[in-house]
Amino acid sequence: MILTRVKLLNYRNLREASVEISPKINIFLGRNGQGKTNFLEAVSYLSLGRSHRGAADRELLRFGTEHLNLTVEGKDGQGEEFVLEAALSRQGQKRVRIDGSPIRRTADLVGRLSTVLFDPGEIELVKGGPEHRRRFLDHTLSMVSADYFRNLLGYRRALSQKNRLLKEPRRARDEEIEVWDAELVRHGTPLILARRRILPFLEQVCARSYSSLAPEGGSLTIVLKLSLGDAANAVRGDDLESWQDAFHEALRVGRARERQLGHAWIGPHRDRLELELRGRSLRRYGSQGEMRSAAIALKLGQAELIYERTHERPVILLDDIFSELDHQRTRALQKLLHEEHQLLIATARKEDIEAMQQWSGLRIWEVEEGRIAPVEQAQ
Ligand SMILES: Nc1ncnc2c1ncn2[C@@H]1O[C@H](COP(=O)(O)OP(=O)(O)O)[C@@H](O)[C@H]1O
Ligand SMILES: [Mg+2]
Repeated sequence: MILTRVKLLNYRNLREASVEISPKINIFLGRNGQGKTNFLEAVSYLSLGRSHRGAADRELLRFGTEHLNLTVEGKDGQGEEFVLEAALSRQGQKRVRIDGSPIRRTADLVGRLSTVLFDPGEIELVKGGPEHRRRFLDHTLSMVSADYFRNLLGYRRALSQKNRLLKEPRRARDEEIEVWDAELVRHGTPLILARRRILPFLEQVCARSYSSLAPEGGSLTIVLKLSLGDAANAVRGDDLESWQDAFHEALRVGRARERQLGHAWIGPHRDRLELELRGRSLRRYGSQGEMRSAAIALKLGQAELIYERTHERPVILLDDIFSELDHQRTRALQKLLHEEHQLLIATARKEDIEAMQQWSGLRIWEVEEGRIAPVEQAQ
């Protein structure tokens, strides 16, 4: 899938822009604070239905303005054109349209435009707590499976209801907890199974990317540690019912402990995805460079998984990451991505993109004080 045009009005510091995107490589060049990240955020907004930086919708409106508009036009792998639009108002109205038709829930947008974003904060994927990697899994799987996303929302709803009960453990009756446990099992078991199923593929592509990014070596492995404890050890294969039984059993065994803790302790919201290099935890023992390469490898894995499942290449957004990488890793990453994907790259440093100058389909934009203008290129 490729984007052909991005139009925006009053998105953060960007006043008005209509940017005709090259199907291959687009570079947004500009000093810090000029609006490069804002531009990539606008594109990814229409992919996720929200800001990837976790900003509330009203923060996206340009200071002093009442409305913002965002449009992306593109073509999917079959050459079918699509248009996604979002309009937000300071009063809190949010209208999203796909090909001109309004959609009822923002959730219906998820998966329409697949993007994979790399930014320096991504190292938290490896360095940070397990919640970062769970979010990565959930986000990846939601992009390729509407069922996964639906179950995830259902699971979260049930989880917060159960937590509300457990906050006052003395008042919570077992029968009430059981109602929510049944919901957790109903929505949560498919999450566990989907995570288990993608693991071998994810590990394989991540390990491959890791070795081209960090040829000094070590093999990357990914381990999924389920929170179901002993109950899960008995289950063989991927049979839904057996996993549901194991989940129920784990909840039953863990009930007293959950009451004691005052919150839900068992289920896929507590699963852990762990990265190891040479059999050791990267998060605990890895060097800065190893962690950075692994974080990028995970993102490349995400891109491959999206392609494998949807037969669409995601659009790649690279936000200022080359300054964090040495020369060799930068080249390796550029090479890995550019043949198959459309790239949107934000950078403050011209030297980072020198290697790409000869590649075909390069378009350069200058971003300055919220304006985006094409740079004339010498042929
Ligand atoms: N809602 C907003 N309205 C106007 N300006 C904003 C808004 N949100 C952020 N900004 C401005 O955007 C600028 C940062 O843009 P950003 O895209 O992060 O820069 P960079 O080019 O370094 O990636 C800051 O100057 C910030 O004040
Ligand atoms: Mg930036």
